[in-house]
Amino acid sequence: MADTRAIRYFDHAATSWPKPPVVAESMIRAMEDAGGNPGRSAHELGLAAARTVERARSAVASLLGATDPRDIAFVPGCTEALNLVLKGGLKPGDRVIVSSVEHNAVVRPLAALAEAGIEVIRVASDEEGLIDPDAVELVLREQPARMVVCQHASNVTGAIQPVGDIADIAHEHGAVFVVDGAQSAGHLRIDLTDLGADAYAAPGHKGLLGPQGVGVLYLARGFEPQELVQGGSGGRSEDSRQPRTRPERYEAGTPNTFGIAGLGAAAEYLRAHGDEIRARERTLIRRLVDGLSDIAGIRVLGPRAGSERVPVASVVHSTREPDEIAFALDRRYGIAVRAGVHCSPWTHEAIGTAETGAVRFSVGWSTTDDDIEVALQAMAEACA
Ligand code: ALA
Repeated sequence: MADTRAIRYFDHAATSWPKPPVVAESMIRAMEDAGGNPGRSAHELGLAAARTVERARSAVASLLGATDPRDIAFVPGCTEALNLVLKGGLKPGDRVIVSSVEHNAVVRPLAALAEAGIEVIRVASDEEGLIDPDAVELVLREQPARMVVCQHASNVTGAIQPVGDIADIAHEHGAVFVVDGAQSAGHLRIDLTDLGADAYAAPGHKGLLGPQGVGVLYLARGFEPQELVQGGSGGRSEDSRQPRTRPERYEAGTPNTFGIAGLGAAAEYLRAHGDEIRARERTLIRRLVDGLSDIAGIRVLGPRAGSERVPVASVVHSTREPDEIAFALDRRYGIAVRAGVHCSPWTHEAIGTAETGAVRFSVGWSTTDDDIEVALQAMAEACA
């Protein structure tokens, strides 16, 4: 096992690490005591597996403010959830309006859909990477669309988008509203009932503190995209068509029960400790942004100092390449960051860093005051 004391981990936006111990414990317990196939076999191990999955579903629903756990589907990840909603919710001839700061998990399926005859319209952000709801409205007024897609928060700039306002505008114009929650789930308090999104996709392994390989798709009632995959659901097996009931429609095939067990435990952990974690993350990211801004030659991207952001801070230096800085941080100080364009070339284009990329620090539940001090000291030395 990696020595967690020797690593200063600032890559929570990619994958949170380490996990709360209850996550691995619950995965092992599921493997030992609930190792059957959930929803299929009526023997004890199958029933225990089904209970494990449904308990996790309720924990995630409750954490995210979904009133009915059946509106939560477990999928292999956020990317798959977004693919499902985009490919299952749009058809040739449709128009979709999308923010210009989306991750490739949205950009690439939309590129594939554009080739299939779906019109994709981008709404520009400002130089901080923020989307103005009025700009969305302006486009919708001229060019009505079936769907509006926007991230909740940026994996590059940390900007938090006004998704509540965009939801209202999308609905006023008869469009469904899809939110990529990759960087908000866990890091922001989410109330899906209140948020107004018709679909919200989230990875299990980032702010939700679960393992990789499991993600969450919330679908509001009334929005029924075509499923991406058909197959066994454990019920009505005599019918050759995919069931229309939730969540079975969107969960064909044997699920990742152990991953779901881990995610369920993480959701319960966040229900108990989320407010405290989020408050600490806010304090730490503020300190990090302030400290980084004070280092000569460094520019912090995204929302100006003092503005709210998820716990992400990306920087560029006037002379040093992001890769060079990331390499020095890793090798000389054991500091793990992510350099490059972060699978978000649109975002870097929008904020003027497409050529250089950036060095990204992302803070999480396990980050300490000491980590921040060490990172700032290391950055000052690495950029001297
Ligand atoms: N999308 C993840 C990141 O931002 C992998 O690093």
